[in-house]
Amino acid sequence: MSSPYALTTEILNGVAVITLDLPNDPVNKFNRAVKEEFVALFDRLERDLNVRAAVLLSGKQDSWIAGADIEEFLELKSAAEAERMSHDGQLLLDSIEALRTPLVCAIHGVCLGGAVELAIATHYRIATDHPKTVLALPEVQLGLIPGAGGTQRLPRLIGIRAALDMILTGRNVRAKKALQIGLVDELVHPSILRSVAIQRAREIADGQRKHQKHSGGITGLLLDENLAGRKLVLRKAREETLKKTRGHFPAPLAAIEAIDAGYSGGPSKGYREESRLFGEMSATDVSKQLIFLFFATTALKKDPGVTLAEGEGRIDVIPVDKLGILGAGFMGSGIAAIAVQQGTLVRMKDADHGRVAKGMAAVRDVLKERLEKRQITRLQYTDMMTLLGGTVDYSGFRNADLVIEAVFEDLDVKHQVLKEVEAATDPDAIFASNTSTIPISRIAEAAARPERVVGMHFFSPVHKMPLLEVIATSRTDRRVVASAVAYGKKLGKTVIVVADGPGFYVNRILTPYINEAGRLLDQGAAIDAVDNALLDFGFPVGPITLVDEVGLDVGSKAGHIMHEAFGQRFAPPVSMQAVVASGRYGRKVKKGFYLYDEEGKKGAVDQSVYALLMPAGRGVSVEGGSGQQRTTIPALEVQQRTVLPMLNEAARCLAEGVIRSPRDGDVGAVFGFGFPAFRGGPFRYMDTLGASEIVKQLEELNDRFPGRFEPAEQLLYMARRSERFYSQG
Ligand code: 3HC
Ligand code: NAI
Repeated sequence: MSSPYALTTEILNGVAVITLDLPNDPVNKFNRAVKEEFVALFDRLERDLNVRAAVLLSGKQDSWIAGADIEEFLELKSAAEAERMSHDGQLLLDSIEALRTPLVCAIHGVCLGGAVELAIATHYRIATDHPKTVLALPEVQLGLIPGAGGTQRLPRLIGIRAALDMILTGRNVRAKKALQIGLVDELVHPSILRSVAIQRAREIADGQRKHQKHSGGITGLLLDENLAGRKLVLRKAREETLKKTRGHFPAPLAAIEAIDAGYSGGPSKGYREESRLFGEMSATDVSKQLIFLFFATTALKKDPGVTLAEGEGRIDVIPVDKLGILGAGFMGSGIAAIAVQQGTLVRMKDADHGRVAKGMAAVRDVLKERLEKRQITRLQYTDMMTLLGGTVDYSGFRNADLVIEAVFEDLDVKHQVLKEVEAATDPDAIFASNTSTIPISRIAEAAARPERVVGMHFFSPVHKMPLLEVIATSRTDRRVVASAVAYGKKLGKTVIVVADGPGFYVNRILTPYINEAGRLLDQGAAIDAVDNALLDFGFPVGPITLVDEVGLDVGSKAGHIMHEAFGQRFAPPVSMQAVVASGRYGRKVKKGFYLYDEEGKKGAVDQSVYALLMPAGRGVSVEGGSGQQRTTIPALEVQQRTVLPMLNEAARCLAEGVIRSPRDGDVGAVFGFGFPAFRGGPFRYMDTLGASEIVKQLEELNDRFPGRFEPAEQLLYMARRSERFYSQG
């Protein structure tokens, strides 16, 4: 029996071995056609009495099934239509659960969303003990909830707590953990997955092996059946979710509601609520923005970073097998840590042995953390450390394919190391600067081979921050740009290519935002109130906390460079200058706007810092602030005064060609500093507000604070013509 489409079936001694392999698609997903094929196939198998059991495999090399087809969500016209889609999915999985022939899922690679829901509706799950095998319910990351029975079956299989953890975070569960929590029944080596799955299917059909049910911890499951215990868990989950999301993400709360309904009202109420809430969530703006971001980042994975000539097809990149790093400081060691994890041979140079040793220790710490979390094995850890070498001269640099400099932010030092690198490496080697503010073309002025000079701007901490800005000057060879992009992706980063200029894109739009936060302090606003207003807007940390994190010395130096480049609208606030002059550099010296303990953990606002700010007598206070000032600035005004200049600057960056598209601008802001993802990014947010509304608000502010809020030409033009950045919402 075989299908001309996605499913092929082979009957082996009464076991139907079904392989799902979507033709012309890199991953398997449940689209309408696949679902119809499943229905037809199971219908046939149920009627074929020679078939006693079935096994479901993936035909893709390293992935099982990526869940529902997200593209189909874009076509949904109403909540009711999405509700119906979810209900149909539930019915399909119900029919699979009720099959006469037991079905065994043989899982290798990613098993996501609807795929987990399918797997837990079947009778037995075997997964490979391979690092590529991960199971997750990422629906909340798309602003949705599991819609094919996941909110009902999962808690009953692995317990409410473990299910909440998966459903509310969307986090990946590795194979070993999946076995521990009872999500899968058995782990095997990939080479025997198929044969063991067939054997298990036969054993189940023969009654030699029981259908696996309720393998989650007995105590947990007993607690779940207890009304008071369950209510407590769900109430806590609601409270924690609200605290974390500040109400901006409705999906996690909806998932909790669906789980609750299933326990308090019985399965049919639970399934009904799941479908209803899935429909409701799919119609939210939050879901639309998150789905946009999914497709934007997916598109960037395939983007070579340069425009291909007609008929070019692809561009050859220079593979980076050997990497030289200059500066074993905070950023240099961070880059080294991610490079060795990808198998790159790394040579890290600094001025003296002490600093090299410190840098090597920092790399070791990052890898040790991964080892402790069991994300890598001890053998992998040792192999990675072996790839790392330190030096105080250029020995080992001759064969480097790429050298990244992360030395002090000083043009003379950058010039000096560039010349040294050109002398120490082959002419083909690429020189990349990790500078955060100095234009790459200025660094390249000292180069004998400016076409090999590019910017690779990583964000700190390097191993955690997902974005990389690759900066091309007008002289950078396009193959060099494409190679930096390709290597950035290999390091696991989402890469945007930006044009050269002070602050590039991310720091350029961040600076007016931070500056305005500082000006609110100049006016006497309370530190925590400014931060809180922007947490309420949806940023992961407030601007003043961010300044403490980045370091006031670093931030102030960058601020001056930007001021010099862009003039008055980038003038640094008085308060920040006073604080930095006092030596409060933020968290790294455990003294900044906030208090820090010995481990550097942030506490409350350091009240003593107010003495350095503008006199309180001239001040005003912000709603909810703890400072002792007089007037109140509404939180909404704080948000407008800080966010609007950021949007304004983003529009300028697009008009000047600093970014290639609104898409890059949105991804850069969300992944670079946590612009609220549920707003889609600055450009999607501007489309939500509308250009004329933004212009109106900017003009009102500009009347009050002349010169700081002048609307960008681009926005004025768009407002006049009622244009948007994206053709559709
Ligand atoms: N739906 C539609 N397209 C998908 C998809 C999905 N679920 N998963 C991946 N794709 C597409 C990508 O858009 C990309 O398309 P393209 O080639 O046209 O650009 C292609 O598959 C390859 O994807 P990646 O480039 O991302 O490949 P990677 O190997 O880097 O990553 C992946 C693969 C881990 C599967 C990643 O794509 C991913 O995380 N996908 C999203 C999975 C997801 O969120 N699933 C849940 C869906 S919601 C659901 O199931 C609802 C249910 O409860 C009813
Ligand atoms: P750091 O001070 O931690 O490290 C710089 C290192 O460079 C020091 O160890 C120093 O000894 C070494 N160094 C100086 N001159 C050298 C030379 N001639 N040869 C070899 N090593 C030399 O600084 P950090 O924070 O790592 O910054 C480095 C660069 O990265 C700067 O250009 C900075 O603007 C940029 N950057 C910093 C970010 C941050 O958050 N700290 C973020 C993104 C970029």
